[in-house]
Amino acid sequence: LKTIFSGIQPSGTLTLGNYLGAMKQFVDLQEENHCYFCIVDEHAITVPQDRLKLRENIRSLAALYLASGIDPEKSTLFIQSEVAAHTQLGWMLQSISYIGELERMTQFKDKSAGKDAVSSSLLTYPPLMAADILLYKTDLVPVGDDQKQHLELTRNLAQRFNNKFNDIFTVPEVSIPKTGARIMSLQDPTKKMSKSDSNQKASIFMLDDEKKIEKKIKSAVTDSEGIVKFDKENKPGVSNLLAIYASCTGSSIAELESKYRDKGYGQFKQDTAEAVISVLKPLQARYYELIDSQELDDILDNGADKAEQAANKMLAKAKKAMGLGRVK
Ligand code: TYM
Repeated sequence: LKTIFSGIQPSGTLTLGNYLGAMKQFVDLQEENHCYFCIVDEHAITVPQDRLKLRENIRSLAALYLASGIDPEKSTLFIQSEVAAHTQLGWMLQSISYIGELERMTQFKDKSAGKDAVSSSLLTYPPLMAADILLYKTDLVPVGDDQKQHLELTRNLAQRFNNKFNDIFTVPEVSIPKTGARIMSLQDPTKKMSKSDSNQKASIFMLDDEKKIEKKIKSAVTDSEGIVKFDKENKPGVSNLLAIYASCTGSSIAELESKYRDKGYGQFKQDTAEAVISVLKPLQARYYELIDSQELDDILDNGADKAEQAANKMLAKAKKAMGLGRVK
């Protein structure tokens, strides 16, 4: 039995990228593994948040996890700030992180570029993420492509701690899906699809209705060649739609290329939109049943209790290894 951990920030409505790159994998993994899925609200406050909106986004993300098929009988679903060990171990791991390696993280560079007020927690975000993972003896972390660098740092911090103090942390592996690991913006397919894109047409949100999804895919930027072929370099728009279509249906890219060999982009886009709708529509129905339910709160209470028990054990070992507190 492997232990799996992954987290998503409650920093806005999730996109199709979050779903295909991450969430969709989670559901399959919970069948044969011991899984923890986390709403990482302490990561979200590394950039300014509106308090009421943040609360809403936390609840919404919890409901989306469940609606996408996370089963609370099989997996532990919880909110990061409800388990104090995360920030505690995060602080300890900051003490073995170097400013230079944190400054090299591309997410830090992207999020701090051009801003005159950058919080120190934006820089120390990766050691907190490492703490999330290392608290649970995680073997495998399923994430999209953009988190690779953070996972590499997590592995380094685990090894550094083990060498310096005591060999207590499991060094985790990363798991990136074959298709859908990097869903691109529909308006600029050289940029990744992101929750925070100011252009609403660039991203499909998990709660978009049918009409919106159709409209956004129909107006997705492609090229004037009229050939449905996967070629990331020269045809980034078409390649992105192919990845979306393949990932939503389970078809291979090659199958789709031959299916649309003599057809134009019109039919291809229409069918891509339908593939997305057929994935999101049932999920949305379940979401609206859950969002105001007591069931959702019970699941999160229970998840926090279970996570806390496991996390506190590892935290105690880490404190002992570093010499914090007293001998007990
Ligand atoms: P976040 O909240 O930005 O994204 C959540 C997950 O969605 C994936 N993702 C994408 N996949 C494909 N295409 C895209 N366009 C796309 N955009 C996002 C991300 O790779 C991620 O898997 N630092 C993390 C959250 C985190 C975490 C953790 C993850 C905190 N602690 C511990 C794993 C383990 C983040 O910002 O994800």
